[in-house]
Amino acid sequence: MFDDGLVELGRASGAHGEVVLRRRTHPDGTAVTELIVDGVFAMDDVDTATERALATEALARCPGERLRVLVGGLGLGWTAATALADPRVAEVDVAELQGPLVEWAGRGLLPVLPADDPRLALHVIDVADHLAASPGRYDAALLDVDNGPGFLVHRTNAGLYSPAGLTTAIAALRVGGVLAVWSSDPAPQLADRLAGLPGVADVEHLALPVERDGRRFDYAIVLARRAGAPR
Ligand SMILES: C[S@@+](CC[C@H](N)C(=O)[O-])C[C@H]1O[C@@H](n2cnc3c(N)ncnc32)[C@H](O)[C@@H]1O
Repeated sequence: MFDDGLVELGRASGAHGEVVLRRRTHPDGTAVTELIVDGVFAMDDVDTATERALATEALARCPGERLRVLVGGLGLGWTAATALADPRVAEVDVAELQGPLVEWAGRGLLPVLPADDPRLALHVIDVADHLAASPGRYDAALLDVDNGPGFLVHRTNAGLYSPAGLTTAIAALRVGGVLAVWSSDPAPQLADRLAGLPGVADVEHLALPVERDGRRFDYAIVLARRAGAPR
């Protein structure tokens, strides 16, 4: 442990930069897990309500059973764990760019993620490539790979939010399936862009107020459905 209560659980570098997983213990004994990706603070687990809402809000809009869910990316595993907690979910594929993070998850370093759940498959892949390779596959695709379309962790992720990238994401859904995108800022332009695409229905922008360190932030989730008759 460093002097300031920081313990490094993992650090690795690769083609997509450095990834660091660490735990910070505060003087009152509370411990916080933090993820730093390519020098950018990606998340901690002080308040994971919106990462969980990404799964619950999308799944609430998915009728039926034996649901297939894609989560991109893994982070600390809260969105994937929340999807697995829904008994209607039969498969959760996680697409994660950082191989070391997937390895640490397999070693149980992400305590919230039940890595041995047979419904869970962790893939080391760019979620854009995974979406492109999965036409018509998912009931829900849950994207949280950046701090939002306006605050990218990797510049290469910009294409995900372009009309072509969003069209590919929608095409990875079954008819009636739901795309959900997390953002640390309101993202009305993303909602407008989705609403303008052919084959997209029921676009919603949910504002999610969050309080951190006495300050209020408006996070957001943008949802869109692949149009057509439900299966
Ligand atoms: C903010 S975290 C996700 C948090 C997650 N929702 C949770 O509940 O813990 C973002 C994750 O996306 C990953 N990532 C970034 N760009 C990616 C991409 N193009 N494809 C797959 N994963 C990506 C990062 O490595 C990081 O693990």
